[in-house]
Amino acid sequence: AEQGPVIYKGLAGVPVDYTAVSKVNPETNSLLYRGYPVQELAASVTFEEVAYLLWYGELPDDTQLAEFEERERGHRGLDHEVKRIIDEIPLTAHPMDVVRTAVSVIGASDPQTPDDSREANLDKAIRLFAKLPSIVTYDQRRRRELEFVEPRDDLGYSANFLWQAFGEAPEFAVVNAFDVSMILYAEHSFNASTFTARVITSTLSDLYSAVVGAIGALKGPLHGGANEAVMHAFDEIGTADAAAAWLDDALAHKRKIMGFGHRVYKHGDSRVPTMRDALERMVEHYDRRDLLELYVALETAMGERKGILPNLDYPAGPTYHLMGFDTITFTPLFVASRVTGWTAHIMEQAASNALIRPLSVYNGPEERHVPVKG
Ligand code: SDX
Repeated sequence: AEQGPVIYKGLAGVPVDYTAVSKVNPETNSLLYRGYPVQELAASVTFEEVAYLLWYGELPDDTQLAEFEERERGHRGLDHEVKRIIDEIPLTAHPMDVVRTAVSVIGASDPQTPDDSREANLDKAIRLFAKLPSIVTYDQRRRRELEFVEPRDDLGYSANFLWQAFGEAPEFAVVNAFDVSMILYAEHSFNASTFTARVITSTLSDLYSAVVGAIGALKGPLHGGANEAVMHAFDEIGTADAAAAWLDDALAHKRKIMGFGHRVYKHGDSRVPTMRDALERMVEHYDRRDLLELYVALETAMGERKGILPNLDYPAGPTYHLMGFDTITFTPLFVASRVTGWTAHIMEQAASNALIRPLSVYNGPEERHVPVKG
């Protein structure tokens, strides 16, 4: 047989470009954002500081942070037009479709859209970062037949997010666990959605188009959609004592177990221990040890049966559930965080662009000809 070129299905193991945004090291299970270990960031800075770090390459000093926070807080509101268009979307649509549409509407209404300077792209990135909590909570509340809660500019990002979601001043422990989740979800090198954003940017399309495409890529259950799918599995299983039998049945039916496995990490996801700590704090806070028992039972059974370890979505799903978010809102929460990483990559791609256009190897029919009629 003819020896064709090697195909790297799913681009597995193929480096396609440099990046200075983050470093994933599967050997040591570590993840660095601009050089800083993500666990250290989660323990000592806010999500706003992480966003600043991803975009500017350095952590902000006090003055820079104050300025940045003021800018972010100034953009939290949602135009009437965006709310009106969200209202037009049927409730049968997944919230990811709503978020994708809302970002598209914001892009279509922004006179700065065609300006691809770094300054303009930073403006757009900060605006999306500031507005996503309003978009996500507007949709969750409309589904619950509740009024929109206006953002508060006396609250930090995560406290305000929870305020807008539930209309109550959130407790510090909950704000902190939520902020940790936002920090851990913010960035992860050339994952499928970030790569999508870079492909779109590489054609010299605009930042909003790249983010809309990335949202589409994140929606799938092999990627960001897994955090919701974890909760659906927990609902199916019910209680810890049912986990092992449920898993055996699911594996026998060749089902993928959501929240487990990773393309890059084979010895565990660097972010899981930090997120699991946050989950445990929420389990204490809401007095729901039963949920942690189920978590452990499924993790243990999966380890025994397949030796496959959890990824970040595994502890994140139940944490958001405990906080009171609807399961279908979990992936939009991931969007709100990852928009920081996406846009950092969009700006990096734009600054050293090459059109991304790989090759394919044809395996269809040999050349043939349209039969002459008559
Ligand atoms: C995220 O890339 C990123 O960085 C993503 C992310 C980010 O921050 O951006 O980390 C976020 O997307 C996390 C992943 C969320 N997805 C899931 O939890 C879905 C369930 N997991 C998988 O389907 C799977 O593990 C992937 C998609 C995450 C990775 O898949 P790969 O690298 O393509 O590996 P594979 O599917 O070829 O699996 C290899 C083997 C297979 O068995 P064999 O055919 O060799 O016998 O492992 C098995 C798989 O069947 N396997 C699983 C499994 N994960 C791998 N079997 C059952 N359940 C699983 N979860």
